[in-house]
Amino acid sequence: MENKNIYILAIESSCDDTSAAVLCNKKALSNIVATQKIHEEYGGVVPELASRAHQQNIVPVVHQALAKANIDKNQLSAIAFTRGPGLMGSLLVGTSFAKSLSLGLNIPLIEVNHMQAHILSHFIEDDTHKTPKFPFLAMTISGGHTQVVLVENYFKMEVIGESLDDAAGEAYDKSAKILGLPYPGGPLIDKYAQLGNPKAFPFPKPKVEGLNFSFSGLKTSILYFIQRETAKNPNFITENLNDICASIQYTIINILMDKLKKAVKQTGIKQIAIGGGVSANSGIRKALEEAEIKHGWTAYIPKFEFCTDNAAMIGIVGYLKYMETEFSDQSVTAKARYIL
Ligand code: KG4
Ligand code: ZN
Repeated sequence: MENKNIYILAIESSCDDTSAAVLCNKKALSNIVATQKIHEEYGGVVPELASRAHQQNIVPVVHQALAKANIDKNQLSAIAFTRGPGLMGSLLVGTSFAKSLSLGLNIPLIEVNHMQAHILSHFIEDDTHKTPKFPFLAMTISGGHTQVVLVENYFKMEVIGESLDDAAGEAYDKSAKILGLPYPGGPLIDKYAQLGNPKAFPFPKPKVEGLNFSFSGLKTSILYFIQRETAKNPNFITENLNDICASIQYTIINILMDKLKKAVKQTGIKQIAIGGGVSANSGIRKALEEAEIKHGWTAYIPKFEFCTDNAAMIGIVGYLKYMETEFSDQSVTAKARYIL
């Protein structure tokens, strides 16, 4: 039988990155991301501005993804898109675009859950990345979510712990805002943290039952700490930025690792995959590498370009669903809250 290649065009527009990718089976031929700079000065994503920017970006980003992959739209097997969770105005742009294109090209439409895609990004074929074996534990750490998920197979996933308030990425971004750093603050805190003393300023860790997380208390204690110190010394932040960032990072990574250790103990599973923007963080990467040696875990860390929001991860779910002929029809709508 002829072994036919499957070409998926994937679209991601759930938050502030407009992205399109073309996959040939499990391999990403292109993965274009247009990051919206407009939010930098606001300390967070402004939904209305994000939606408008997606509208401006989506056509050129899709064009670029097809051109880079050297694929004509008539060669596409299906269109995959992020249905949710995310910002409604942002999701609507990608959803409407995907629906129209699938109708125009008369090819299947495949809806994808963004959080499932962060987890399955590990299955994008790549010579340098090893693929997790089922069952494994996934910790998704992004700007909108923090979850520990028991992954039985591609489609059977159970959330066994999650944040009761802010997400880990939000803790980074809100701390950065308190320090006067632009959005998104996570990569900046990470950068300065690597130059500072992680034990310079101890911040309390929350006491949360089971495998759930809480980050809002940390944000408040950082705020009060900074207010107190800057009242005494107006230059406190600039004089201590590296140490403050290292201390914040140390606390966040400890909170995440404590829960992961608990999840391993509870499930007996030592295969750990991380995903989402915060998995780009140097601290979590180092902590996982140490846990491999100390606790015998096998850690799977996505390639940098597949950590933060990108369409290739939507494409891999699209491909896996295509193989199961799991298609959506034109009545499908965006879903701001979309449980895994
Ligand atoms: O997965 P993502 O791109 O978007 C969401 O689905 O939310 O994650 C974005 C989050 C932001 O909060 C950003 O500050 C954080 O990921 N982030 C980082 C790093 N790179 C991105 N946080 C800490 N360290 C990093 N190196
Ligand atoms: Zn994400």
